[in-house]
Amino acid sequence: MPSNISAPHATTAAERENAPESTRQAHARQVRSMFDSIAGRYDLLNHLFSGNTDTRWRRKVARTLDDVLVNPRAAVLDVACGTGDLALALDRQGTRHNHTGARIIGVDFCHPMLKIARAKSHKISFIEGDALRLPFADNYFDAATIGFGLRNLASVSDGLFELRRILKPGGRLVILEFSKPVIPGFSQAFNFYFKHILPRIGDTLNGSCGAYTYLSDSVRKFPDQIELARLMRASGFDQVSFRNLTGGIAALHIGSRQ
Ligand SMILES: C[S@@+](CC[C@H](N)C(=O)[O-])C[C@H]1O[C@@H](n2cnc3c(N)ncnc32)[C@H](O)[C@@H]1O
Repeated sequence: MPSNISAPHATTAAERENAPESTRQAHARQVRSMFDSIAGRYDLLNHLFSGNTDTRWRRKVARTLDDVLVNPRAAVLDVACGTGDLALALDRQGTRHNHTGARIIGVDFCHPMLKIARAKSHKISFIEGDALRLPFADNYFDAATIGFGLRNLASVSDGLFELRRILKPGGRLVILEFSKPVIPGFSQAFNFYFKHILPRIGDTLNGSCGAYTYLSDSVRKFPDQIELARLMRASGFDQVSFRNLTGGIAALHIGSRQ
């Protein structure tokens, strides 16, 4: 990453909710510049550091929405789609056994990430747009997903309200995000790795830009499983539930638009 670009300072969801608009915009600009700069290495480092577990997690999101994804009349939005792997997993799930599958759209505000996504599929529409001002009408989508994106938004609550807005009543939201490991012993070891080892290796491989330090800090400051479920209910989702993935390293939250 060029030296004039620095990763954003990770803040808690509550700190961001109370921040002035100018601070939120600065946060969004820094997040976008950071992903601009790491786009070329994003997929490789993701798969390397997770031992491809990230791919399994995305498949689980897709399986959760199987009934929607096989419906050719359904539209499904993947927000903060990045290089497109979750959108691709959704498409694969929907088109298994020669089904036509739902229409999948990915949206992200980082052009270099979208460029990589577009090279992976000509069938999925990858659109440039802000998760906090989605370029879609109210009540449009049958389901929406956001994978490792919510944590990066300038406001988690505003992001959830915006996701609710574009969903049809009864439409489902699935969130895949890093969370809080729940297995004693494993949790301590993982936290040590994530706080002290991953940032060093990741930032070195990425040209010392601080992206992995930001990743580690932002995960620590992100709401845990229970709190995220509470925020979803407060943002107008019901039937909210979650399941831990790989001992709670990540979690998959599901809710329906009221
Ligand atoms: C960690 S990547 C996740 C990408 C992808 N969903 C995946 O599963 O690998 C986070 C993505 O969120 C995008 N992002 C962050 N804030 C955004 C916003 N306000 N609007 C649109 N995209 C945003 C970034 O550009 C980046 O591509």
